[in-house]
Amino acid sequence: MPIPAEHAARVADPAAYADGSIYETYRWLRANDPLGHVEAEGYDPFRVVTRHADIMEISRQPELFHNGPQPILNTRVGIRKSQELSGGKPTVLSLIQMDPPMHGQYRGLTSAWFQPGNLKSLEPRIRELARASVERMAATGGRCDFVNEIALHYPLQVIMEIMGLPEEDEPFMLKLTQEMFGVNDPDLNEKGTGAYAIQDEEQELDMSTLWKMMEYFNKLTAERRANPTDDLSSIIANATIDGEPLDPLGSMGYYIITATAGHDTTSSSTGGGMWALAEHPEEFAKLKADPALLGLFIDEAIRWTTPVKHFMRQAQADAEIGGHSIAKDDWLMLCYAAASRDEAVFDDPDVFRADRKPNRHIAFGYGAHLCLGQYLARMEMRILFEELLPRLDWVELDGDPAMSKATFVNGPKRLPIRFGMR
Ligand code: HEM
Repeated sequence: MPIPAEHAARVADPAAYADGSIYETYRWLRANDPLGHVEAEGYDPFRVVTRHADIMEISRQPELFHNGPQPILNTRVGIRKSQELSGGKPTVLSLIQMDPPMHGQYRGLTSAWFQPGNLKSLEPRIRELARASVERMAATGGRCDFVNEIALHYPLQVIMEIMGLPEEDEPFMLKLTQEMFGVNDPDLNEKGTGAYAIQDEEQELDMSTLWKMMEYFNKLTAERRANPTDDLSSIIANATIDGEPLDPLGSMGYYIITATAGHDTTSSSTGGGMWALAEHPEEFAKLKADPALLGLFIDEAIRWTTPVKHFMRQAQADAEIGGHSIAKDDWLMLCYAAASRDEAVFDDPDVFRADRKPNRHIAFGYGAHLCLGQYLARMEMRILFEELLPRLDWVELDGDPAMSKATFVNGPKRLPIRFGMR
């Protein structure tokens, strides 16, 4: 039996992620049908996985549950049009599309670079960027749209830094990531025709964003092969597998995932944390009174926002998860944001607690594909709030905030605040 039509429509509707009604659906699904069958108009049938334990059990079996070929929910026509365009091959091949054994080989190329020990050397430069953001906030005179004026730029500056890209390319990169990921929201994607925004046969698939990225990164590969530095781009450009350099599809996928995965996700979590502080002065007071709580606050902001709403997996054989049977080829939507509010794991899951402990959220995923940038994301958020909190006396909402419309990565797109700063 498929899940009720009302819930199925919400799971596939970007607007339900913006108005928060998706959380009612998640609650119903966890309680009544944790691996429910979804039949939603325009989509191939899929299963919606909403319990924390089930998502972990699936994620820890990458041989049985593959990411490829379609790791993000897309409409039937969107999938077909992308395939036609690329002659049946993937247009981007990044870690997210890969499965064993290729995935391990590619992930191994940069996993040491993303470890805390290596990231430490970046801390002074990231702190400079954080200080400049805090100065910019102070210069607004006590009112700003925290997302558009602060949270959106800082993680992008960090990405530009780790990839060794010039500051003047920042607007270009911001536009590209928003067009690729802000896919269903007309405020964030003027054209609304990226690979994940095709809803019907009449819409033309516009791959110009992707082509622009490819041109940009091909040039970067050539530059870093000629003159390697110590940045992440040089590692990707000069990486080899079995003695051979990565082909353009492989290196392109790497650049694109690093440039895009670490941006909207971190800015959404930063904005989500600030939104919660502005709405809950008592949580803000806790943090001010005890700065040692900062690490807990960062993880609560990430749990609370869970910007990556899902990734898909495809069963390679019949299986059983949490007492429910899964058939070979079933397409599974792992709903991280549903896991983040699972009553079986979190006390008062719908309450924001700056000092939540333990906090076993899986907003970074779990298992073989666990977010490669998790330490970097936590570090840059920590540094920003370390610089900001001692100067921030109070903060409150100054109008209506709004969330973006997207079923994949979503978070605050507008956050008007008023604040006192020294
Ligand atoms: C709060 C911020 C972030 C969140 C919530 C987040 C979340 C996620 C999630 C849910 C996954 C998929 C995990 C899975 O399938 O099990 C992922 C993968 C990934 N993330 Fe993040 N991410 C964040 C920041 C970053 C940053 C800063 C970077 C790097 C600059 C990054 C790079 C990646 C990469 C490369 C992957 C693919 C890993 C793989 O498939 O092996 N992420 N992230």
